[in-house]
Order: sequence, then structure tokens, then C-alpha cells
Amino acid sequence: MDQASSLRKMVEATGKRDRLNRLETAVENPENVPRVIAITSGKGGVGKTNIVGNMAMALSAIGKKVLVLDADLGLANIDIIFGIHPQYNIGHVLNGEKELSDIIVDGPPGIRIIPAGSGFVNLTHLTEGQKLSLLSEFEALNEISDIFLIDTGAGISSNVLYFNLAADECIIVATSEPTSITDAYAMIKVMSSQHNAKHFKLLANMVKSESEAKSVYKNLCQAADRFLSGVAIEYLGYIPRDEKICDAVKQRRTVMDFCPASASSCQFKKLAQRLWESPKRSDNVGNIKFFLHRYISAKTNTADQHAL
Ligand SMILES: Nc1ncnc2c1ncn2[C@@H]1O[C@H](COP(=O)(O)OP(=O)(O)OP(=O)(O)O)[C@@H](O)[C@H]1O
Ligand SMILES: [Mg+2]
Repeated sequence: MDQASSLRKMVEATGKRDRLNRLETAVENPENVPRVIAITSGKGGVGKTNIVGNMAMALSAIGKKVLVLDADLGLANIDIIFGIHPQYNIGHVLNGEKELSDIIVDGPPGIRIIPAGSGFVNLTHLTEGQKLSLLSEFEALNEISDIFLIDTGAGISSNVLYFNLAADECIIVATSEPTSITDAYAMIKVMSSQHNAKHFKLLANMVKSESEAKSVYKNLCQAADRFLSGVAIEYLGYIPRDEKICDAVKQRRTVMDFCPASASSCQFKKLAQRLWESPKRSDNVGNIKFFLHRYISAKTNTADQHAL
């Protein structure tokens, strides 16, 4: 069953036709819904959180409304670079203590953050009624955002994979270290061979030059072309190694805010424009609600398999 028909079945079961109509509008007009992009990596510590924070700043600077999901279920580092202190997370929404709107935190202008906390882990235990109500709360997010960036944890653990698979687009971050390239390849391999994901964007971080970035890209493409079938990796660009990023983190700021003229900030501005203008190559339908639906379905199916 495809995602639209499974959603339709779920919503029809509750007799809520108006919701179904709004869903159909979203499917028919994919241009009007936010782009849902996961920023991920095979190896940890390659710069995902700084990339999400600074891309959010750069996208907001070109007038886009950005929503960030802090989906690193371990350490919530995005709080540090935005200098925020969220009190609540999705867990509080799931247990009924808070509405989704209560837990969303305002970051720098044009940017809002949803702290996932460990709440996402419990999504398989929801009743159908709870799921529907959470999905409809997520639907409202489509109206307050042009782009939804997901800062995932690192590695091929199932939680990271669910976020990547549920997103419309997946940006893999890698550095020039061989282990980072190997782990990026491992991520692409699992996503393509086990889950049929075929499109990826590569962002090289902490590189000395564009030519170093291109060689990271080339290495990854060569391995993918040789061993994986039908995988397309697009070169999104690079961020240079820049001490100003570390200085900014120490001050609990993004480098875009701390030093907007730095080499890395200039690249973030270019990348944000390029990302926004790049065509969406995805089989998924862009919509934050569908993202959540896909995430819950993937988790629930896996939980069912384990239970058998
Ligand atoms: N382009 C860069 N130049 C210099 N330092 C960088 C750059 N990008 C990131 N860093 C530094 O690398 C470290 C790790 O960055 P970050 O926390 O963003 O990585 P991550 O991929 O989110 O890590 P994790 O996998 O633990 O979530 C930070 O100390 C950050 O300051
Ligand atoms: Mg991180």
C-alpha cells in the first residue's frame, strides 16, 4: 500500500473527511509544502549540528521560514549553538502534558526548533487515536515552515535510518578522513540496498579546498558505482575547515552569527541558496505530516517484526 492510500485508510476509519481533503490537497500541490531534509552521517563528529544550525541561519537570511528537528536522541547539541534551553520535548506531547506548540522553541529570527528528546523512541506505543492527534498537530507545522531540517545522530542505528528514510531528501556529511568516507558509504549502502533509497546529496565538511571536497565526492561515487545499483549521489558543496566555527561554538553561537564574513559563513550562504534552488529528487511526498507518518510506520513495522 502506498503512503497516500495507507493514510487515507487510517483517516477514513475515523470518519474525519475534512482532514483527508487537506491531505489530498498536499499531495496534489507538493510545491506548496515544506521540504523535509535530513542531515546525517555515517561517522560522528563530522559537523552535522553546526551545518544544520548555520544552514538554518543562511536559509532564514534569504527569507525562508525554517523549522529544525533536533533528532539526535543522545546529545542535544543544537541547543548549544542556538544558545537555547528547551524545557520540554516530544515526550511531553506524547504523554499529554503539552501541546506541540508549547514545546517549539524560538531560535534566532525565522528559525524554530522542535526538541525531540527521547520521545520519538516511544512512538510505536501510541494508540491510533494518539497517532492521529499527533499527525494533525504536525500538519499545522506545514503552515509555519518552508523547510524542515532534521539534525540526526550519527551511524546506521535504526533510529537514524528511520529519520533519513522518512525525510524527502537526505544530505550525507563526510570529511576527507577515510573512516568518514567509509562510514558514509556504509550508510548509503544500507539505505539503498535494504530500504530502496536511491538519491543522496553529499556535503563535504572541514576540507582544505574545493578540490579536496571533490575528491571526497569522487571516492564515494566510485565505491557506490562499483558496488551499489541505481544509486545517484549529488554533490551539494563543501564547508572549509574554519577555526571560527570552533570559536563560535565556544560562545554558544553559530558562525553565521559570530562571524558572518568568515570563509565558512560565505559557503553556508552559497549552499543555502543552492539547496533551495536544487530540484527535489525524491520518491517521497514533501509534507511534515507525511514525514511523521512514514517515521511511525517504519518504526511500527520493525517493532512488529521483532515481536513475531
Ligand atoms: N568546518 C569546520 N571547521 C572546523 N571545525 C568544525 C567544522 N565543522 C564542525 N567543526 C567542529 O567539529 C566538532 C563537531 O561538530 P558537530 O557537533 O557539528 O558534529 P556532529 O556531526 O553534529 O557530531 P555528532 O555526531 O556527535 O552529533 C565541533 O567541535 C565543531 O566546532
Ligand atoms: Mg550533532
